[in-house]
Amino acid sequence: MHDAPKYPLEPDRDEARAMSEAAFALVEDFLRDLPHLPAFDPGGATGPAAALRGERAPEHGTALSELLPTIAEGARSGATSAGPGYLAYIPGGGLYTAAIADFLAAALNKYVTVWQLAPVFAQMEATVVRWLCDLFDYPATARGILTSGGSMANFSAVVAARTALLGENFLDGVLYVTDQTHASCAKSAMLAGFPRANVRVVPTLATLAMDPRALTDAIARDRAAGLRPFLIAASAGTTNTGAIDPLPELAAIARTEQLWLHVDAAYGGPFQLTERGGERLRGIEQADSITLDPHKAMFLPYGTGALIVRDGALLRAAHHVSADYLQDLGPEDEIPNFTEYSPELSRDFRGLRLWLPIKLHGLAAFRAALDEKLDLACEVHDELVKSGFEVPWRPELTAVAFRWLPERGDADAFNARLLERINAGGPVLLSSTRINGRYMLRVCVVGHRTHRDRVVKALEIIRTSRDDLVTE
Ligand SMILES: Cc1ncc(COP(=O)(O)O)c(C=O)c1O
Repeated sequence: MHDAPKYPLEPDRDEARAMSEAAFALVEDFLRDLPHLPAFDPGGATGPAAALRGERAPEHGTALSELLPTIAEGARSGATSAGPGYLAYIPGGGLYTAAIADFLAAALNKYVTVWQLAPVFAQMEATVVRWLCDLFDYPATARGILTSGGSMANFSAVVAARTALLGENFLDGVLYVTDQTHASCAKSAMLAGFPRANVRVVPTLATLAMDPRALTDAIARDRAAGLRPFLIAASAGTTNTGAIDPLPELAAIARTEQLWLHVDAAYGGPFQLTERGGERLRGIEQADSITLDPHKAMFLPYGTGALIVRDGALLRAAHHVSADYLQDLGPEDEIPNFTEYSPELSRDFRGLRLWLPIKLHGLAAFRAALDEKLDLACEVHDELVKSGFEVPWRPELTAVAFRWLPERGDADAFNARLLERINAGGPVLLSSTRINGRYMLRVCVVGHRTHRDRVVKALEIIRTSRDDLVTE
């Protein structure tokens, strides 16, 4: 019998290699099977997930080979959101090269939020943030942070705008959204301390974009009521349909009214890489701050959002608090101390997750993939129209909302059954939403593994499911 290792938390080289190989083998098998797995398998909730419930932390370890099957099972249950058939919500991706970056980042475990502790990696992250700023022609004074996602980016934007324009007594500050704005903006306002009544929902145009006239009227009404309008939270790619608010008009209003213009481009921002995206997002470069989520349309693993702020000093002013125990580390220099721009201190090294894939693939690969998704969404739109569906909005990005209008009976109930029927098949997962009170289905093409064959399949399933339900 072998003696128990003295330091079990420090596997030797051979053990480490064997574990890495076993983990990579799991991933290889998963990726090999991914195109054939059901896009949604709800079964895991009752079996493997239930088995984990109530599990107590073990006193002694178990071999990796005995644990990996549970992880493999977890990967296959629920939605296979890294797969080609995931067309629900806003799909993510999970670039393999970003997973390599995450492995390296976690294993090397450097502390990037205070630059002196990891100057090369902190600079790498700053460089990546600069690349995002370049995408929107932001000046050299711009700064940004990589966040866990769009929600946290929107939160820091609201706090930055609040600090810059309202000071510490801000309960009379009002911000402007629409009923299509992502809920994280209202949630950010709530977390930032604003009364819920101070989130003003501005009416939209027929395109579902914010109505600039209605915005101007709302601002005037709020000023007359003694309130302090301070922030327009515009969307560049709403979650429901990808609608883009009229950014040049909103920028002009923000200038005249001296408000902060934040653009939530969590979904649409990366499309700026493409010619069509650049045209549709025109005006975004005038925003005071922009949220964009590389874990959406840049296909990175979940946990990668970004906020960039035109005047970086304002982001820092809203987040920086000095601490005696960090005194040895000194002030930021050419390389920013990210913690001074963000609510976070210790966190994962997110920059490598962007830097490595961009260096390995080049931006051209991202542009081409996004162009492919834009084409596919147009095809979905055109084919659904041809098949008689109601498809009220031509996609500006890659989300298409639609429904079937049955000759008899309740349209909402019919479309809810239609969604169930479509998703029951396995190859695709769609989601639903409510727009102007109507139940709508959505196809959203974002995943880097979603190509034309799967979209054609989705259309076939949608049509057949509709035909079956109509004749039942
Ligand atoms: C437009 C928009 N903003 C913000 C968010 C929130 O982003 P996250 O889920 O990364 O926190 C989403 C998420 O889908 C979104 O679509």
